[in-house]
Amino acid sequence: MKLPIFAANWKMHHGPSDARAFMKSFLAHYRRQQDRKVLFFPNALSVTTVSELLRDRPDMETGIQNIHWEDKGAFTGENSAPMARDSGATHVLVGHSERRHVFHETDVESNLKVKAAFRAGLTPVLCVGELLAERDAGDTERVVLRQLLAGISEVEEGQVASMMFAYEPVWAIGTGRTATPQDASTVHSAIAAALKTAIGERAAGIPILYGGSVNRGNATTLLAAPDVDGVLVGGASLDADGWNAIVCA
Ligand code: PGA
Repeated sequence: MKLPIFAANWKMHHGPSDARAFMKSFLAHYRRQQDRKVLFFPNALSVTTVSELLRDRPDMETGIQNIHWEDKGAFTGENSAPMARDSGATHVLVGHSERRHVFHETDVESNLKVKAAFRAGLTPVLCVGELLAERDAGDTERVVLRQLLAGISEVEEGQVASMMFAYEPVWAIGTGRTATPQDASTVHSAIAAALKTAIGERAAGIPILYGGSVNRGNATTLLAAPDVDGVLVGGASLDADGWNAIVCA
């Protein structure tokens, strides 16, 4: 059985002091629950703070929002997968829409990052999603599956089976416009089917998260949709009380 996953993507918010204050408040209210998993993706500077505060909480883990694909070298401003691991991260977001569309990252780079994550022992969470124009042109599945298959290209089947995926339609991120549970389900089912074709029955255990304007009002309905195994939440994860309400959905 897949445990529902609640992942918070803080983006460029909550430096170490704010992250500590958030965690103090959140941990005071959120009791350990065995039937769900909570992941935090703080900015790189706050990873150590968050992972240390979660040390005694096996129900929660910390990830990093981005890595470079090289393990070390002359890449001013970048963070590598081994460094993220050393800071206490267990997961990494790869190919988030802001990385793809603001920083122009390519499918090939996402694939290199997935492989770098595995070399360092991090679990990659590969994010995929179409632009509004692509949806309007009827291209959603083609775009999403292209991103997906490129991202896992030449990755061992056993490793793919240990990954997570997030479907985040670009037009729904930070816009207040959410995909309907039906829209989400349709794409999630296509992702699940593509993963099954790629690696067989083991694909059944792979969590597929939905992201894009998830909030305390819509999280429960989205999570009830077929093939939606969790949520990846940006704006609505920034406030400890609001995040507590979503995680208790
Ligand atoms: P949002 O962001 O919840 O603010 O739409 C989601 C994401 O980018 O992961």
